[in-house]
Amino acid sequence: MDNRPIGVFDSGVGGLTAVRRMHEIMPNESIIYFGDTGRVPYGTRSAQTILHYTRQDVAFLRSFDIKAIVVACGTVSSVALNTVSKEQNIPMIGVVEPASLAAIEKTKNGRIGVIGTASTIKSGSYESFLHEHKPELKIFTKACPLFVPLVENGRVNKGDIVIETVVKEYLTELKEQNIDTLILGCTHFPLLREVIADFMGENVELIDSGAAAADYAKRILTLSDNKTSETKYFVSDDPDSFKALSHIFLNGEIAENVGNVEIATY
Ligand code: DGL
Repeated sequence: MDNRPIGVFDSGVGGLTAVRRMHEIMPNESIIYFGDTGRVPYGTRSAQTILHYTRQDVAFLRSFDIKAIVVACGTVSSVALNTVSKEQNIPMIGVVEPASLAAIEKTKNGRIGVIGTASTIKSGSYESFLHEHKPELKIFTKACPLFVPLVENGRVNKGDIVIETVVKEYLTELKEQNIDTLILGCTHFPLLREVIADFMGENVELIDSGAAAADYAKRILTLSDNKTSETKYFVSDDPDSFKALSHIFLNGEIAENVGNVEIATY
């Protein structure tokens, strides 16, 4: 048993989709969550900036005695994880490998779509991993940068004309490719599951990358038997806005216990 907490971070609230799954499948784990809400989005920034932010996020989490880090951000997982994990002596689990493996397991026709931030798609991270494991797969990718601010503003519901218009605009070309599996390669996107599923149709399986990373963490980490586990949240902007938005990511649960961090000092 290892009762030390697991660190989790994202550029904002999206990583809570991984926390939600961790609460479901690993209720005894304590979690330290950091959301870089003062600097979100990461997905439109340069690789150099993303690397710099990632190092600071990791340094903050390492100020606690944590046993591992779940990188609950598709952008960081795609752009900075390879470099930063080599600098750390605890496991760092990103979303790309777990989500890709889940997609490989689900697809029947070998045609997989991947959506993510501009940096994630530009990095080619999902294609590389998927092709390394199964060269015959046909992969179709699409950057969907506007999804992130819309999710951060709670515009996630079916019937919301703004999100439905953007979903149609981004996903029409993927729909025409006859994919049967779609990786939601950004941890903000599972909040749009209903709208995306409705648009793509029932024959397309959606893969939640944050949840896949949580499942993977459960498989590889030494878990805790702590009956009084707790989750502490930290953000780099207003804790109250984070609290107010948290319930849509955490299945109705509200993130209490939210602290503010001067992340630039790490
Ligand atoms: N949640 C982050 C990701 O998975 C995206 C948001 C951003 O652009 O910062 O890529």
